[in-house]
Amino acid sequence: MNLEALNKVAVAMAAPGKGILAADESSGTIKKRFDSIGVESTPESRRDYREMLFHTEAAMRERISGVILYDETIRQNAKDGTPLVKLIEKAGSIPGIKVDAGTKPLAGAKAGEVVTEGLDGLRERLGEYHRLGARFAKWRAVIDLGRNGDRSIPSGACIRANTHALARYAALCQEAEIVPIVEPEVLMDGDHDADACYEATLWTLKALYQELYEANVSLEGTILKPNMIVAGKKCPKQASIAEVAEKTVKCFRNAVPAAVPGIVFLSGGQSDIEATAHLDAMNKSYASRMPWKLSFSYGRALQAAPLKAWGGKAENVAAAQRAFAHRAKMNGLAQLGQWAESLEKAA
Ligand code: 13P
Repeated sequence: MNLEALNKVAVAMAAPGKGILAADESSGTIKKRFDSIGVESTPESRRDYREMLFHTEAAMRERISGVILYDETIRQNAKDGTPLVKLIEKAGSIPGIKVDAGTKPLAGAKAGEVVTEGLDGLRERLGEYHRLGARFAKWRAVIDLGRNGDRSIPSGACIRANTHALARYAALCQEAEIVPIVEPEVLMDGDHDADACYEATLWTLKALYQELYEANVSLEGTILKPNMIVAGKKCPKQASIAEVAEKTVKCFRNAVPAAVPGIVFLSGGQSDIEATAHLDAMNKSYASRMPWKLSFSYGRALQAAPLKAWGGKAENVAAAQRAFAHRAKMNGLAQLGQWAESLEKAA
């Protein structure tokens, strides 16, 4: 393993003023997104949509450090025959690939608890993805915090199974000269408060870094992709922006080693503005207390606006690209702690 090369990629993924575009929706998820705008999901419509984003040149060059692709997309060509991977590279951004195979119910566990699959054959798949141009990968583990009102989950068994899988995935990635994004997502579904999210996230991260240590994963060549510390969507007591920032930074300072170059958040169902405002508040108020870069790896919070503006119509491409460029810029400014709500109104 060439740790220096891995570290260089990880540092570039967390470059100042930039973040990651998560465009790795599975075929099922992208169909749901397309259903919401009345567009049929076909290999061509998926290609057209993603090509449109990757062709937003200035935003890609200035604000997007890396793009997470899905298996289908990493093999697709743009309309003019250029591989989509090359479009991303040409914009100075790094191509990455989602490699997990999704979640399944965890046998023996309570309802809602899942484990992420995809380790079988992963060594071979990583070799192929590296040849196709991927320089980082993503594996998402999901921790349900009792969205059905069951306060006895998550269980230790669920956290152990998921963090162990993340560590085995991360070790395989580094062996293949690919930077692993380790993503343990504590869901924001349900009515739990922000403190319950804090406890579950802290527990998960402590377990994760122990597993990564035992698997001999070099943290300098990894990126963490976590949830923020927020209340569940159905909780009557939502945390303020300042509270989310304070609790999230406190949680990570207690659990994430300083050797990790970057922490890039998922948006997880937050609104576009919330996802930006939270990231900005952390970087504005706590930059001097954080050993890692704090940035974004948003799917919905970067794509909801361009998806809506596009609506599957060629004549809307320019408007959709403007919407994408705007969100990329707002989040890039939030990475620097330089965002302000007035910048949204001016747009
Ligand atoms: P969201 O930002 O929509 O949560 O997606 C990010 C992601 O990649 C989840 O795995």
